[in-house]
Amino acid sequence: MIQLYNVCKSYMKDSAALDQINLKIGKGEFVYLTGSSGAGKSTLLKLLYGGERPNRGQILIDGRNLTRMGARQLPLIRRRLGIVFQDFKLISTRTVFENVAFALEVQGRKRFEISKKVYAALKNVGLEHKLNRRPLELSGGEQQRVAVARALVVDPIVLLADEPTGNLDPETTLELMELFKSASARGSTVVMATHDRELIRRFPRRVVTLDNGRVVDDSHV
Ligand SMILES: Nc1ncnc2c1ncn2[C@@H]1O[C@H](COP(=O)(O)OP(=O)(O)OP(=O)(O)O)[C@@H](O)[C@H]1O
Ligand SMILES: [Mg+2]
Repeated sequence: MIQLYNVCKSYMKDSAALDQINLKIGKGEFVYLTGSSGAGKSTLLKLLYGGERPNRGQILIDGRNLTRMGARQLPLIRRRLGIVFQDFKLISTRTVFENVAFALEVQGRKRFEISKKVYAALKNVGLEHKLNRRPLELSGGEQQRVAVARALVVDPIVLLADEPTGNLDPETTLELMELFKSASARGSTVVMATHDRELIRRFPRRVVTLDNGRVVDDSHV
């Protein structure tokens, strides 16, 4: 589902955020991206959704070469991805419902179908009673869960999540992991950046460790 060949990314001359990354991730696989701060986890996720372009190398998602895509094709593949950002990126002027509905509206789904799916996605994260609130009226953990509902509502082929448990209490963290596990069981490929060693111990999955922009360990469990 995801293939990277010799991918290099530097934001500035003489310092590589990612250096010669080769990686294959299968459909429905669940992979943790780990490594110390500055190792390149967020950069790798950004390359996978086309938020940044690599300086060298090829990135394929579902057999399509992101690196060769133009400005018109990229949004089409992006619609099939679910992304949970480190800072949520919710639209503050819109309600919780509207934030989650947005991705489905872009896909041109019918209003009735949108309502049904959005409600189900919010119920899944335990926030169906807050659908008329705006993001800033919610706690950090609640905003995080809205971001997760928004990512999962499209049944993404690939779910990318950057430290999605960073703002959650232990109980909500477990609930989020269950959501991610069932997304992967339904066929979504999950790539999740995390520092949380304890979480990885509790939910053992493949772990790709980055250090200084290189893959230094890739352990399948
Ligand atoms: N927009 C940017 N401009 C310049 N340098 C950047 C930019 N984004 C990231 N970097 C640099 O690229 C390297 C990798 O950063 P990245 O954010 O991918 O690390 P990370 O593993 O996600 O770290 P953290 O655990 O702190 O989130 C770092 O050296 C960082 O300073
Ligand atoms: Mg990061």
